[in-house]
Amino acid sequence: MSKLTQLLCLAELDQKQLSDLLELGLQIKQNPEQYSSALKGKSIALLFEKPSLRTRVSFDVGINKLGGHSVYLDQQNGAMGVRESVEDFGSNLACWCDAIVARVYSQKTLVQLAQSSKKPVINALSDLYHPCQALADLLTLKEHYGDLSKVHLAFVGDGNNVCHSLMLGAAIMGMTLTVVTPQGFGPDAHVLLRAQAIAEKSGAKLTLSQHVSAAAGADAIYTDTWLSMGAKADPKLVENLFAPYQINTAVMQRLAVKHFMHCLPAHRGHEVTSEVLDSDNSLVLQQAENRMHAQNAVLVSLFS
Ligand code: CP
Ligand code: NVA
Repeated sequence: MSKLTQLLCLAELDQKQLSDLLELGLQIKQNPEQYSSALKGKSIALLFEKPSLRTRVSFDVGINKLGGHSVYLDQQNGAMGVRESVEDFGSNLACWCDAIVARVYSQKTLVQLAQSSKKPVINALSDLYHPCQALADLLTLKEHYGDLSKVHLAFVGDGNNVCHSLMLGAAIMGMTLTVVTPQGFGPDAHVLLRAQAIAEKSGAKLTLSQHVSAAAGADAIYTDTWLSMGAKADPKLVENLFAPYQINTAVMQRLAVKHFMHCLPAHRGHEVTSEVLDSDNSLVLQQAENRMHAQNAVLVSLFS
């Protein structure tokens, strides 16, 4: 596959690159020992402006499994851009580290890091995108359904970073994606245009709706928190507005959808009930496991 140079947003990838990346993720999952020295001698900074369980641990453990070394940086030494500029942060990290994995409030920070560090930057979640999550989600769907162009996924909830990356991933892979959001919480207009332009070429079908019924017949329903980290919306207002969008057993049955997906952390009894989250058809732990394999595919591809 062609070498990656960074991963700030899935739209940087064409269908072959994304498809090769997913295939590599599966190979790494199946034959981990073959990749145990892939990152030998490489040091990777894990820079987090926001909390994390899955992303932090899956990168740390994953880098270790590839024979590399990671350095975790949180905000205890001061927020990025306060003690020194984001650019100075990036240029200094690049003196010692071979790549920077960063979870940031603003996508702009990732661009600043990428421009100043001269080392690959991987987006570990921003206000706009969560590409590593979408890679793991596509890997999970590939394991269940094989050909992604035949998969119908429905995202129900807030048109957020996870939704945006799924839109781009689905568009690149020629999937059918139905995005269901309450009025005023739809996906970002620029991201939508970008996904639609990609979909036109790939044959993907992207549909937006405000009605949960639009998800009927999908292979899987995906939801995420109604209030993302850093979101400024009023929690009470959000709770009321989003209540009809809860994914529960009655909804799954009425819409005849088999699989349930969520990036986690989940808010039980809010966007999803425990009954659905813990059901046999919930893919959430497979998605969580696949975070590591998908990210390792990105890392191997950066350094191969
Ligand atoms: N899904 C995900 O990114 O989880 P964390 O916020 O725990 O990293
Ligand atoms: N949309 C959520 C995803 C968490 C992994 C957030 O940004 O908080």
